[in-house]
Parts: sequence; C-alpha cells; structure tokens
Amino acid sequence: MRETTKQTDGPDHVAIIMDGNGRWAQSRGRPRLFGHQAGGKRVREIVRACPELGIRYLTIFAFSTENWKRTQAEVSGLMMLFKRYIQKEAQALLEQGVCVRFIGDRDKLDPKLVEMMDALEKLTDQNDLVHLTIALNYGGRDEVARATKRLAQEVAAGRLDPDSVDETTLARFLDTCVLPDPDLVIRTSGEARISNFLLWQSAYAEYEFTPVLWPDFTADTFAEIVAKFSARDRRFGAVVG
Ligand code: FPP
Repeated sequence: MRETTKQTDGPDHVAIIMDGNGRWAQSRGRPRLFGHQAGGKRVREIVRACPELGIRYLTIFAFSTENWKRTQAEVSGLMMLFKRYIQKEAQALLEQGVCVRFIGDRDKLDPKLVEMMDALEKLTDQNDLVHLTIALNYGGRDEVARATKRLAQEVAAGRLDPDSVDETTLARFLDTCVLPDPDLVIRTSGEARISNFLLWQSAYAEYEFTPVLWPDFTADTFAEIVAKFSARDRRFGAVVG
C-alpha cells in the first residue's frame, strides 16, 4: 500500500496519452499518418529525457482497443510504424538502459508484430534505468475483464480461495502487475478525458491536460510539466498535517 506523504520529489512513473497527431498533420494539409510519424520521433525524445528527470517508469498509450475503428489505411499505417520503431530503436533502447514492456491484448495483433514485441522485451529485460511500457491494443476495461477471467480460472481450478480475493489479488492479474501505479498522467492536445487508459492504476494519479499536440511535445514541455507536478501536494485521500 502507498504511504501517505507530501510529495516533494518528482514523479517515479509518468503515463502519457499521446493525442493530437491527426490534427497536427491536418493543420499542415498532410495525411494523418504524417502526424503519427512525427509523433514517433517525439516518443524517442521523451524516452531519452526520462533519466535526467528522474523518471524510472514511462507508460505510453500507442493504440487503444477502440482505435481499430479508424480507417484500414490508418490502422495498417500505425502497425507499420510500430514495427519500424521496434526495428530501428531496439539497439538504442538496449544501450540506453531501457527495459521495454508491452501491455494490452496481443491476440488481435499481427503475429509478426507480436514476435517483434516479444523479442524486444527479451532483449531489454536486464535493463533497469528506465522502464518503458507501450500500451498496444490496450483498454483499461478490457484489461480488468481479462484479469478477472484469469482470476476466475484460478478459483475454478481450486488454486485460489475466493474469500482471499482483494485489491492486491486482482492487481496481480493485470497486465501492469510488475509496475508501480502512475504518479502523473499527461494527456496532450487539450482533451480532458482519460479514454480507458490505466483506469485501475490511476486511482490516485495526478492529471495534467496540456493543449500541446503530441508531435509538438518536446523534452522541455515534458520537463515543465514534471516540475509543476513536483510542486503539488499529494494526500492519497488522507489529511496531511
Ligand atoms: C492519437 O492521436 C494518437 C494515436 C492513436 C497513435 C499514437 C501513436 C504514435 C505517437 C506513434 C508512435 C508510437 C510509437 C510507440 C512508436 P490522434 O490520431 O487521435 O490525433 P487527433 O485526435 O488529432 O486525430
């Protein structure tokens, strides 16, 4: 359980809803995929900025369970972009001390992409400087439903006593079971919604909604938001004297 303290340090775990790629591209008269490509470059920059900001865990929302409703061209363009990111960045991530994990339902993803995701996780699993979690075909409700299904299977098999089930038990079945809860959730592009992202895990997170579109989100913007967080009080539901 979390301690009830006044927060004076920076966030340990930052989660980001990277929004605004499409609008950024459209405002330049370019196709939406152009915005996603520009967004991919920001991912590299923001991951590199983490050690200096003292951020050990970074979780980014790359593709939601709802994003399949986009045009076929956009979906396949995004999938191509994820493959290219893994291919091009694997070595650099390894050398930068980044441990990469993916969360979300892999069943619907192209098996070739899943193979590349598995390989990147394995390649970087000894790293410990920054833990980068990429949410791909991820939805918070879907994650809780999948976790509940696995928990129910354990009960049915007689390996878990239903009377022992509490918050900690359920959390063990979530995709994020090895991660701490996020301290700060950032959403870019001016939308003030959480869109099914880390619903369970963000119970006590601070939120920051910035009007900056994701392809314009620089390491400096990131540092400013992190500094603002560090100045806030966090009480986790209690009164701190
Ligand atoms: C939301 O913007 C963004 C996405 C659905 C895709 C996020 C993907 C990237 C940033 C690409 C790179 C990621 C990795 C991991 C390499 P939007 O398209 O909904 O923007 P809009 O609201 O302006 O239309």
